[in-house]
Amino acid sequence: MAINKKIIVGNWKMNPVSLKEAEKIFSGIAKGFAVLKKTQVIICPPALFLEKLKKVSTKISLGSQDAFWEESGAFTGEISASMLDTLGVRYTIVGHSEQRHKYTDEEINRKVRGCLASGIIPILCVGETERDADHKYLNFVKQQVESALDKVSKNSLAKVIIAYEPIWAIGKTAVREATSAEFLEMSLLIKKVLNDKFGKSATDTVKILYGGSVNTKNALDFLENGKADGLLVGRESLNPAKFTEIIKTSENLNSLKGPNKK
Ligand code: 13P
Repeated sequence: MAINKKIIVGNWKMNPVSLKEAEKIFSGIAKGFAVLKKTQVIICPPALFLEKLKKVSTKISLGSQDAFWEESGAFTGEISASMLDTLGVRYTIVGHSEQRHKYTDEEINRKVRGCLASGIIPILCVGETERDADHKYLNFVKQQVESALDKVSKNSLAKVIIAYEPIWAIGKTAVREATSAEFLEMSLLIKKVLNDKFGKSATDTVKILYGGSVNTKNALDFLENGKADGLLVGRESLNPAKFTEIIKTSENLNSLKGPNKK
């Protein structure tokens, strides 16, 4: 993971239905940009498309949408981080809000540690269901971060990406879009939590992305004013023209700063 690059992740969720369509979208995105200097692009398609898509373009890194903590065994339906590793996949989303109901916080922590043990970079998703007037959501996210990173070493922290995805701002049923100021506030809180737990130098290595209704119109705002280290894009990552526009927005940011100068 290049330390000074923005990271643009596409989470395709359970889309598209066919491999043919997946290849078309993937190559459409790959054709949409030349060599990138300041941006890393990761696409997380449904797992059964990973192997084929790997052959379509090397410009895009691949990620899974989830990974199980055990290496192998009687766990029907699960895919382990070690399996992803043998496939050459380097990233996986962990704890996405559409998956979290299946797992406890402790199991999310096991997933994070299982990924790190297998050399897979977890993209750990955190985020509250609603913004309550008493600001309980701040503590909620704090606890999500703390529990997910329990027993993770300082050295391993550099290999963790955190994505703040407020559930109320995700998908077609979003209450409203989050603002870049709301993201900035939350990323500062997350950094404070990391700082208290791991110290400043380890914290400075962690990238914090924003996700939730990211589109071509708000991407720049989150990257520039929200100081996001990258974006986790759902719906718009299935549209090659729009997703490449978001990638180019990141690549063309002129004020890219080093991790210690954020
Ligand atoms: P949308 O961009 O479709 O709101 O999805 C966000 C998301 O959940 C990405 O992981």
